[in-house]
Amino acid sequence: MKLPRPFYQPLAIGAPAPLRELPVKLERMIHFVPPHVEKVTAKVPELLRQVDVVLGNLEDAIPADAKEAARKGFIAMAKAVDFGDTGLWTRINALNSPWALDDITEIVAAIGNKLDVIMLPKVEGAWDVHYLDQLLAQLEARHAIKRPILIHAILETAQGVNNVEAITTASPRMHGMSLGPADLAASRGMKTTRVGGGHPDYVVLSDGKPGDTRQKFQQDLWHYTTAKMVDACMAAGIKPFYGPFGDFSDLEGCEAQFRNAFLMGCAGAWSLHPTQIVIAKRVFSPDPAEVAMAKKIIAAMPDGSGAVMIDGKMQDDATWKQAKVVVDLARLVAAKDPEMAATYGF
Ligand code: GLV
Ligand code: MG
Repeated sequence: MKLPRPFYQPLAIGAPAPLRELPVKLERMIHFVPPHVEKVTAKVPELLRQVDVVLGNLEDAIPADAKEAARKGFIAMAKAVDFGDTGLWTRINALNSPWALDDITEIVAAIGNKLDVIMLPKVEGAWDVHYLDQLLAQLEARHAIKRPILIHAILETAQGVNNVEAITTASPRMHGMSLGPADLAASRGMKTTRVGGGHPDYVVLSDGKPGDTRQKFQQDLWHYTTAKMVDACMAAGIKPFYGPFGDFSDLEGCEAQFRNAFLMGCAGAWSLHPTQIVIAKRVFSPDPAEVAMAKKIIAAMPDGSGAVMIDGKMQDDATWKQAKVVVDLARLVAAKDPEMAATYGF
């Protein structure tokens, strides 16, 4: 294991120094764009007002014969558009694919100074992150990149889940991690045909005797993995995200899945369709009533210690810390969105 001091040294002479703290950014939705489709990339300047992150997808869902066009389209889009505060990410192809090396080398050479994050799919262990970490440092040095490009891993293989803690701490480049329920379902041998969301047969039954009508309670297939991912990420000081929800017609199902992730600690989710942008914005911006309560708690305990009663509920140092999480996030949302700022009373 690398010792703490070398951990923060650049991996190539001339590469920018790794960050000690992640940039504090609002990333409620990572919006996926197919960069080979000109009709879609032409609308990216409009999209910037609606989303926190634009991601050019080069991996799954891009046909094999469009991989080169997607990479070129992403580079052209990145060059043409001023992204301002909106994050610019790409999801490259998996490291064992024929396209990953060209994805990384061509993109860093062409637009490395504009790129915030590379999303790395199918991460199995720390070794995948180490490889990309080293290669990025060499490329950053060669192309005079000023700030380190961060890495975001997709948690979507059984082995990746086994190694989740090692992945989160593999490099100071680690930005965060997204749950990839579709690939993970296949890797685990789950008997489903969906991209995220629940399943009507994953239930517990209320108690009963033979012949009774028993209630079914559908359970969340992703609870275990989300919890494991959130703990690993937050312990490492990086950000957990829910990934894709593939049924675009099920807005309520999508909202419920996103909300569970939000309540459990996730910072955002992927949006694959414009309707999901609106859902992610609503879900991953804290509820004004919760923000009002959190502000009350902080006002009642200005130094964060002691115990007070508010509306019949005990508040102490621990609820103060929860309140701070909610208010800090609300401030981040408010800084970007004057309407929400007014709703929160900032
Ligand atoms: C995302 O990449 C997934 O496999 O769910
Ligand atoms: Mg996947």
